[in-house]
Amino acid sequence: PDMEKINGNLILIGLMGAGKTTLGKHVAQSLGRRFYDSDQEICTHSGVSIPTIFEMEGEQGFRNRESAMLKKLAAEHNIVLSTGGGAVLREENRRCLRESGTVVYLHTLPEILLERTRYDTNRPLLQVENPLAKLQELYEARDRIYRDTAHVVIESENYQHTLSRLTNILTP
Ligand code: S3P
Repeated sequence: PDMEKINGNLILIGLMGAGKTTLGKHVAQSLGRRFYDSDQEICTHSGVSIPTIFEMEGEQGFRNRESAMLKKLAAEHNIVLSTGGGAVLREENRRCLRESGTVVYLHTLPEILLERTRYDTNRPLLQVENPLAKLQELYEARDRIYRDTAHVVIESENYQHTLSRLTNILTP
C-alpha cells in the first residue's frame, strides 16, 4: 500500500470468526488509534442486538443500517475499523471502504471459522443445523469479493503472526 493509504484508516474485512474484532482492538491499542466495530456501533445506536434486528427487519433491514453506519465510520480519520462479514456485499460499501484507507482481508478457512464461532448465538446466519456447510457456502460466495476489495490479504490462522503482520502494515 502507498503512503497515502497507510496514513488513512485500517479496515478489516473477512468472514465471521476471522478475528476482525479481536485483532482490530489489539492493533488499535498498540498503535494508539481509536477502534470501531461496525456491528457494535449498530447495536449501540439501535439499542438492540444484531439477532433482534434480523428478526424484526430481516437481513435487508440490517444491511441498510450497516451501509449507513459504514459511511459514517469511513469518514473518521486514523481509526481501526472492523466490519461485519457482509460489509462487502454492496458495491457502495466496497467503494466507501477502499476510499477510506487500507483494506485488509483476514483470510481464514471455514473449518477454523467453525471452531471460533461454534458456541456463539449472536450470529443469525449461523443459527442453522449445519453451520460448517453455511460457512463453506459463504466462503465460496465471498472469498473472491474480499480479495477484490482488499489492498492486502493476510492469513488469519495464527493469532500472533497475524497481529504482527497487521502492525507492520501501519509501521513499515
Ligand atoms: C454477517 C456477519 C456478522 C454480522 C451479521 C452478518 C455476515 O458480523 O454483521 O451477523 O453476513 O457475514 P461478524 O463478521 O463480525 O460476525
